[in-house]
Amino acid sequence: MTPEFIHVYRPPATPGGPILLLLHGTGGNENDLVPLAEVLLPGAGILSPRGKVLERGMPRFFRRLAEGVFDIEDLKFRASELADFIVDAAAKYDFSTRGVIAAGFSNGANIAGALLLLRPDALGGGILFRAMVPLVPGMLPTLASTPVLISNGRIDPLVSAEETEQLAALLRSAGADVKVAWQNSGHELTQADVITAREWLAQRRGQ
Ligand code: MLT
Repeated sequence: MTPEFIHVYRPPATPGGPILLLLHGTGGNENDLVPLAEVLLPGAGILSPRGKVLERGMPRFFRRLAEGVFDIEDLKFRASELADFIVDAAAKYDFSTRGVIAAGFSNGANIAGALLLLRPDALGGGILFRAMVPLVPGMLPTLASTPVLISNGRIDPLVSAEETEQLAALLRSAGADVKVAWQNSGHELTQADVITAREWLAQRRGQ
């Protein structure tokens, strides 16, 4: 049986248009990033699942043992479950997974990174806001020119500059086309993130 997630789906304004896969942060839900999607790429379709793991009642996409310390077995299981859900949703709602661009914040960025590293068949690219290295896979996937934007904060107490560069290097070594954008901020999402991501998307779609 294919996995089900509580989710929001909105078709793209133009049939065959891009789909933003919205992945909320810890304690968020499927509605959180919908307004962001409307600014990032007006007219894009939206697939926005709610994370199934609860941490003291707060939804997440995978278990963690402590702040920044992930339960890797659960992460692998949850990434695979989410990828199956995306593939299933693509068949159900009639879109191509190549046209799916993840836009994830914090825990959502980390599961997006895990999807790219473990199940690249489910995505065509990703925007990762405040992302960490979710895991280092035993075997690197082939991410031939998959576009990835990492937008992290210079003074983020949770994610160091080194970890950001490690994530970029890991994705690049798998073949992804990675851009790192630095914001003058901490872990919170800012207007500058939104502008950066909007411009990055517009540039890629103009190519
Ligand atoms: C969070 O609060 O979500 C963390 O910083 C990132 C994570 O646990 O994946």
